[in-house]
Parts: sequence; structure tokens; C-alpha cells
Amino acid sequence: MTLVLGIDSSTQSTKALLVDAETGTVLEERRAAHPDGTEVDPRAWLDAVDEAAGPLRERAEAVAVGGQQHGMVLLDEAGEVVRPALLWNDTRSAPQARDLIEEMGGAEASVAEIGSLMVASFTASKLRWVRDEEPENARRARQVLLPHDYVSRHLAGGGEAFTDRGDASGTAYYSTREEAWRPDLVELALGHGLELPRLPETPQQVMARTPGGAAIAAGTGDNMGAALGLSLGPGDVSVSIGTSGVCAMVSDTRPGDASGTVTGFADATGRFLPMTTTINAARILETGRALLGVDHEEMARLALAGVPGAHGLTLLPYFDGERTPNRPDATATMTGLTTATTREDLARAHVEALLCSLADGIAALEEVTGVPAARITLIGGAARNEAVRSLAPAVIGREVTIAADGEYVALGAARQAAWALAGTAEPPAWEIAGAQVVEAEATPEVLEAYRELKDRTESWG
Ligand code: XUL
Repeated sequence: MTLVLGIDSSTQSTKALLVDAETGTVLEERRAAHPDGTEVDPRAWLDAVDEAAGPLRERAEAVAVGGQQHGMVLLDEAGEVVRPALLWNDTRSAPQARDLIEEMGGAEASVAEIGSLMVASFTASKLRWVRDEEPENARRARQVLLPHDYVSRHLAGGGEAFTDRGDASGTAYYSTREEAWRPDLVELALGHGLELPRLPETPQQVMARTPGGAAIAAGTGDNMGAALGLSLGPGDVSVSIGTSGVCAMVSDTRPGDASGTVTGFADATGRFLPMTTTINAARILETGRALLGVDHEEMARLALAGVPGAHGLTLLPYFDGERTPNRPDATATMTGLTTATTREDLARAHVEALLCSLADGIAALEEVTGVPAARITLIGGAARNEAVRSLAPAVIGREVTIAADGEYVALGAARQAAWALAGTAEPPAWEIAGAQVVEAEATPEVLEAYRELKDRTESWG
């Protein structure tokens, strides 16, 4: 049996899967935790990958790494870490993102140059933050890597760093139009140029070898890895409900949305991966659960005992601000409370709010690509919630597939490793076992009420 290793170096932990290259069957799984925080010493990820992948490494003939997108790993002349990596969820560089948009010539120009409207999450705005706030660190910097590049090079035992177009497209110094680095944008952001990792010529290229001789594929960003792990095809949408809510569609055409709702990333197969990312996802359920003083199971039971539209109770769930829509200073709004409002209504309103915000994400993807969503697949921790699973097709208004529990980023990395090993034109066809298709009668009035409240509160900031 030929074995491949797929690694997910995520915000919270490293997960490693040993997988049968032929079928995609997961044979072993190991994990190691990462430190908390929005800035982290990237060497902690190397310790974590050594711990998680250690004993599996010798048994695999190929390996690839999927990693959290956007993180800025700055290295000096000697290859040493200049400062802790700033992660995707570190928003201190929001003013710098705004400055860069202006210097690039506005929102339309930003989309034309890099495929997306610049935001604080993107690596370039973090480089600018270092220039503005830590000029000494900016001067010392010689190379910038993404988290997955840094881990991949460690697996190779050193040598030249490499990345892929999917993760590169989240830096804001890669052009999805030219399919090439834009060193001038690094210079614009930091004040001087930096060494950038090598890009593959094909998505299935072997980029390096481990000291033991295993092939190392290019790796990719976590969302691109999940799309590969779920074997999504053009028009298919994945909806990941974790800390953030990510809707991503595989697209044959290069998306461009100057409003910033949809980011126009590349995927790991040569296509594109337009995405919407909300800050409020699983935390909507968590907040509702805490307010009601119940556990998640009871919260789901209460929500399912309620009725569509929660007797007129509507929640706009932008608790601590929101990224999509762009309302960084917003708080949540609830309307329709009466003396007859019940605990069931409250639970139902929270679940419906989460699903409405995701339905908006799917609608935005359809609008920007001009392609109706084909298969919609739910993944992530909150997709296990009984109320979320049952009410998703009603609120979204379409049949929904619930993926079986699994580490789809690591599985996608394993699939890329198997692809590099096979050298075939297409990635290996792997059966994604255990998915469940759920249907329900559509309740369009729920989304209508949500959108009406969203429009009404637009000017509130
Ligand atoms: C995508 C994004 C997140 C991270 C999470 O733009 O910021 O989904 O990739 O790891």
C-alpha cells in the first residue's frame, strides 16, 4: 500500500493524517496543540509538526502541508525569525490596509492587481504595519513566508522555500491575473524588497524531498486544502462553520468584487476559490447557549421545538463587529421581542441568524461568479449541531450535504501529496464517505426578515 501524509497547520493545532494514496482512506491521525494568540512564534508550529507527524513521517512516500492563510513569517539574513508571526485574525493592521488601498489607486485597482480588496488579514498589510510600527524589524527582514511554506521547508530539512498559488493569492503581493508574484507590492508595503518563496509550475509538482526521500508537494492554504479534501468541483460550495464562517466556491473564472464581500483567491488545482468570511459563526450559538444557560444539545432541542421565524424574533448576529458585511464596529441587534417570546424563540433566532449569515455568503458567491451553487457541503464543528443540520436546508432554501466528521484540510493536503506522487493530470478520485444529504421545506420568510433588518441597520455603523 502506498501511503501519503497530509498535514493541517491550523490556527489552533497541527493535525497529521496518514492516508492510503489509492483510496483516500485515513489510517492514522495525530495532533499537537499550538499556542493561543494572534501573534505566535512560528517555531512553535515546527515543534507541533514534529510531534504530530513524527512517527508517521517515515511511512509516507509523499507529504503536503495545508496551513492557516495570510500569516506573516518574517526571516532575517540568517533565516532567523525576526518577530512573532502576525496571524490572519490579527486586525491591528486595518489602518495599513486602508492606506495601501489608497496608494494602489482605490478598491477597483486593488481587485485588478491582486484579485481582492485589501483587508487587515492579508500579509501585505502586516508588512506595512511592521514598516510603520517596528522600523528596526522592517530593516532586518530579508524573506517573508506563509505559515505553510515555513512548515514545508522544515519537513525538507531546510533549503529553498516554496509555496503555491492558492496560499500566495492571500498575501496581496501575488497577482491572480498575471499568476505571478508582485515584488513591487512587497516594496510598496515594507519599503524594500524581500525574497519570496518559489512557485510551482503545475499544481501536482514535487517541490522538494524529505531527508528520508519522500516527495513534498507545494501545500496550500487551509481553505484551498479543504476544497481539495472535499473533492469540490466547479460550482460546488463548502460552508465551514467554526470560529469564522467561511463559504467558498470552486470557480473556473477569476472573481473580482470591489465591495470586499467576496475575496478572489486562487485554489490548489488551477481554478479559483472566491470566498466570504464572517467573524461571527459558532460564537452565535455559543452566545445564545450562554444567555439561555443551557448546553449545546439543549440549545438545539429548544431551537427545533420553535417555529420558523421564531414568532417574529430576528437576530442580526454581528456581536463584536463583522467582516462580511464590512461592519467592524457593529454590535448585534434583536428585534421582535414581546412578552410572549419564549426560550424556544430565542434559541431558534440564534440558529436562524447563523444560517442567514451563511445564506448571504452563498448568495454573494453566486452573484460575483454568476454561477448558481451546485452542491452545498457543510463542514466544521458547528455543522455537528442537530438544529444547524436540520434547519440549514430550510433557511438556505436548498438541499444541503453534511460532510462526515473529518479533517478535510489535512485530507486535502494528503490528496495533493498523492497527486504529486502519481503525476497525473487530475488529482486522484477519492470517495468521500459518510456524507448525509438533508432536505427540508424552504422558509424564505426567515431570510427576508434577516435581510430587512440588515438593510435597516446599515447606517448604524
Ligand atoms: C481566510 C481566513 C481564514 C484563515 C483561517 O481569508 O482568513 O479562513 O485561513 O485559517
